[in-house]
Amino acid sequence: MKKIVLLFLAVAVTLSVVGCAPKAVTPKIGVAIYKFDDTFMSYVRNQIQAAAEGKIELSVQDSQYDQPRQNDQVDQFLAEGCTALAINMVDPSAVSVIIDKCKAKNVPLVLFNREPVAADMAVWDKVYYVGAKAQQSGTYQGEIAADYWKSHPEADLNKDGIMQYVMLMGDPSNTDAKYRTEYSIKAVEAAGIKTQKLAEDTAMWDRVKGQEKMAAFLTANAGKIEMVFGNNDDMALGAIEALKAAGYFTNGKYMPVVGVDATAPALDALAQGTLLGTVLNDAVRQGQATFDLAYALATGKEAKTDVAPLADADGNVDPAGKYIWVPYVKVTKDNYKDFVK
Ligand code: GAL
Ligand code: CA
Repeated sequence: MKKIVLLFLAVAVTLSVVGCAPKAVTPKIGVAIYKFDDTFMSYVRNQIQAAAEGKIELSVQDSQYDQPRQNDQVDQFLAEGCTALAINMVDPSAVSVIIDKCKAKNVPLVLFNREPVAADMAVWDKVYYVGAKAQQSGTYQGEIAADYWKSHPEADLNKDGIMQYVMLMGDPSNTDAKYRTEYSIKAVEAAGIKTQKLAEDTAMWDRVKGQEKMAAFLTANAGKIEMVFGNNDDMALGAIEALKAAGYFTNGKYMPVVGVDATAPALDALAQGTLLGTVLNDAVRQGQATFDLAYALATGKEAKTDVAPLADADGNVDPAGKYIWVPYVKVTKDNYKDFVK
């Protein structure tokens, strides 16, 4: 009888201990990508998934270019008990809604690739950003164009000493699109070359739209275009398709085209001599840094002390400990082989 009582007590104690123990939280990271159908972002996503392999569970969602849908995905991540989120905003200007949701549950938020304004970043100490300085990519594009112009006097078709160019923009509300458009031309002018914009339009980062817009530019400015800038490679490659259809890249008819990203098809185009140059947007480093930071935060570590380095493109550590900047690299026919995988 005594034994039975003791056993009963033991079971009761065990049960009560188990009952009182804090619920074990399994770390999990919720990841949302503005849309899966974006070449560069698919590279970043692959890297995040590869980095998480065997380390932590991820839930990766396609926001399908729909901000309300992404907000719902964030609600779902929080309801599922994710311990950190990594979000590639559909609309970076709508970030405060997502920050508020994360703040209410005290779940750290790593934003990546689509940069919100500094004022939004400043509202909470557990919101971080991983990306690249878009100004730098624009500057590199302009330098590639200026170098070509200076070493190829025949590029000035109408011999007026002015570079007549067309610009294919990404999503116009996107920081990358704005800065690449602005800084590419600034760099050409800083090299002492005058410019004239013949046409500029958004092709929303998209190859097919890039081709359509370029075809329209060619019709409206027959024989006048001397340089083509694309805010990314997909649009630059679309432009090259339109140029091919108009007889370029055969029988010595050439057009310099510059992109950004250094995607695999862009490196092929560099090898073929159709793309003049591009800028490496380092998907592997962006994806890895996004994962490393989110992983540290999801497992209860401090970004400032446990994640190295929270640094800018020049290696300067961000004193606020909130930004990781991944540097761009200029890519031309001289070095593209270094980036072929
Ligand atoms: C840029 C990239 C583009 C597109 C865009 C999406 O950094 O160059 O190709 O992926 O991000 O916001
Ligand atoms: Ca000219």
